[in-house]
Amino acid sequence: MADYEFLTVENIPDYIRSTPTLAEVIDPDDLVLCDEIGDGNLNLVFLAKDTSGRGLCLKQSLPYVRMTGEGWPMTPDRARHEAETLAAHGALVPDLVPAMYHYNPERYIIAMEDLSDHRVWRGALNEGLSHTGAAEAVGRYVGAVAFGTSPLGMEREALAEAIARSVNPQLCEITEDLVFTEPLVDAGRNSCLPANEPDAREFSEDAAMMRAMGHAKWLFMTKAEALLHGDLHTGSVMVRAEGEPDADGVVACDSIKCFDSEFAYYGPLAFDIGAPWANYVAAAARAVALGEDERARWCLSLVSATWNAFEAEFRRRWPQRRDPRVWTDATLEDLLLTWRSEAWLFAAAKMSRRIVGAAKNKDVETLPENLREGAARGILRLSRQLVRQAGVDSSPDAFERLAHDVLLENRTR
Ligand SMILES: Nc1ncnc2c1ncn2[C@@H]1O[C@H](COP(=O)(O)OP(=O)(O)OP(=O)(O)O)[C@@H](O)[C@H]1O
Ligand SMILES: [Mg+2]
Repeated sequence: MADYEFLTVENIPDYIRSTPTLAEVIDPDDLVLCDEIGDGNLNLVFLAKDTSGRGLCLKQSLPYVRMTGEGWPMTPDRARHEAETLAAHGALVPDLVPAMYHYNPERYIIAMEDLSDHRVWRGALNEGLSHTGAAEAVGRYVGAVAFGTSPLGMEREALAEAIARSVNPQLCEITEDLVFTEPLVDAGRNSCLPANEPDAREFSEDAAMMRAMGHAKWLFMTKAEALLHGDLHTGSVMVRAEGEPDADGVVACDSIKCFDSEFAYYGPLAFDIGAPWANYVAAAARAVALGEDERARWCLSLVSATWNAFEAEFRRRWPQRRDPRVWTDATLEDLLLTWRSEAWLFAAAKMSRRIVGAAKNKDVETLPENLREGAARGILRLSRQLVRQAGVDSSPDAFERLAHDVLLENRTR
């Protein structure tokens, strides 16, 4: 049994009233709206608005997984990880994360900026909209975090303290199981279309894939480079359009926010690059399946857009590194090259898990079965190619070309 009170639509006004910082953000006695809006699996998310149009988002962690109930216990401390990460990342790129007003450690409640004028990027991608600037913002976010939360940007003792506080074994274990292990070694949670069963079998019997995932999991569990977001897919990014989309669905963003960082921990930097890449591939696979070849190219171009913005931000900050004595420009080049090829492995892991493993992504899952078959096959085959090519030419252009060719070759009608 939980020993703290859960938020409800009824008790939220009282909660705001009793929390002075929040009573300044929104008027608890004048609410016109207070709803649970969470569409996620893990937590409670509420949105409140008052008559003068001010809003507030409250996110509370339960001691179990919201979707499955008490049968799947999970530490509510994940809210602390999210709150501390919001604070750390917000200090580096305040424009790219939701503003946090308050954290309640007894009830695991984060109070943050109302982003209801934004929408989740994955939904927009699935509707065929092209929000320009979002992939670049994701890259800039990761570049800032790579520098600012690592030994390059942090004082030694503060770094050690941050690493210690970020240890997040329960959430990390979910990734370790679902992303690296189970796609290859079924723990009873895998599934796919009957037509893709031979593809799933080939995938799980692929020794090169197994070796690569062994390596990727090792990196994930040992390489504490920076305070990662830890779950940076297109469903963890919100976008706000500047105006109306043009006839091709293209629209510029005037605000981009990376949110839901409860999986944060000190891990391998490239994980936060490979994760969005894998999701761009899923969006491209959807476009290929729907016969939207131009759009597929655009989705894949997001791979270099994120990388280039990441690299530019990291290079921009590099002159400020704390210890330039041994971290010379040669180190800079070495780091970038290593991350670039590790990102291929993490992207391969992240895209294939969504095809064979638990928790599919909507991009592919909502396609009609005859089209889904080829999209799923293309993604599994692409993962197997990616781990083989990562050490050959790890440029984002090569990634995009390979993804384009493999997805098109496997299209079904
Ligand atoms: N600050 C916010 N303002 C407005 N809406 C938000 C805000 N934060 C989250 N949401 C909405 O609530 C949804 C769930 O939020 P979030 O992903 O943080 O919850 P979660 O329970 O951790 O989900 P998941 O199962 O993906 O981990 C988001 O997809 C978004 O639609
Ligand atoms: Mg979450």
